[in-house]
Amino acid sequence: MSRRLGVLISGRGSNLQAILDAIAAERLDATVALVISNRRDAAGLARAAAAGVPTLVLEHRSFANRQAFDAALVDALQAARVDLVCLAGFMRLLSPTFIDAFPNAVLNVHPSLLPAFPGVDAQVQAWTHGVKVAGCTVHMVTEDLDAGPIILQATVPVLDDDTAETLAARILVEEHRIYPEAIDVVLAGGWRVEGRRFVRDAKLTAPRDAGVSVSSAE
Ligand code: GRF
Repeated sequence: MSRRLGVLISGRGSNLQAILDAIAAERLDATVALVISNRRDAAGLARAAAAGVPTLVLEHRSFANRQAFDAALVDALQAARVDLVCLAGFMRLLSPTFIDAFPNAVLNVHPSLLPAFPGVDAQVQAWTHGVKVAGCTVHMVTEDLDAGPIILQATVPVLDDDTAETLAARILVEEHRIYPEAIDVVLAGGWRVEGRRFVRDAKLTAPRDAGVSVSSAE
């Protein structure tokens, strides 16, 4: 049965689009059940509507505090019977109220090779620092900013004539590739979290990584 995703956005929504495209192309067996934005002007809302996905705007400023905002998010996602929550450019920190409602089931994509350059403007941070390799990370969300167990990472080179903008564009291509892939990995099961480490079962990892289809027969 196709699993249900809730996607949280604040802006452009290109990662949301990558998820929708992966589902349409049958690279990802899932359904986006609900897209929530904390900003009414988020361009990603139109992307969701174009794909026929229900949308909801919950503006954090209209809530008394973070707890109340997070509780409203949880209510909406649970009402939509969401199995996995995907943050896609969602610019709010989530409290334990939220994290505890979806144990090991909240993912985020971040435009750096974590733990380097957490927080905002990660691509500018990487470019300014002068690193020669940059990239992106899909990780589980915990209470700490950009610090949860890492599911997948991808690297890109930093070129001498890059600007922060050209570097960000190169990283974004990889975000769009690995986010749907990481969602697929998590939905497939056969993994565990050991301390900080997201570990996949060897019997699932080997055939998939070798590009060979997995047989369900033992
Ligand atoms: C992406 O770079 C993502 O890694 C970061 O915010 C940006 C969101 O872009 N968390 P978009 O809204 O998915 O286009």
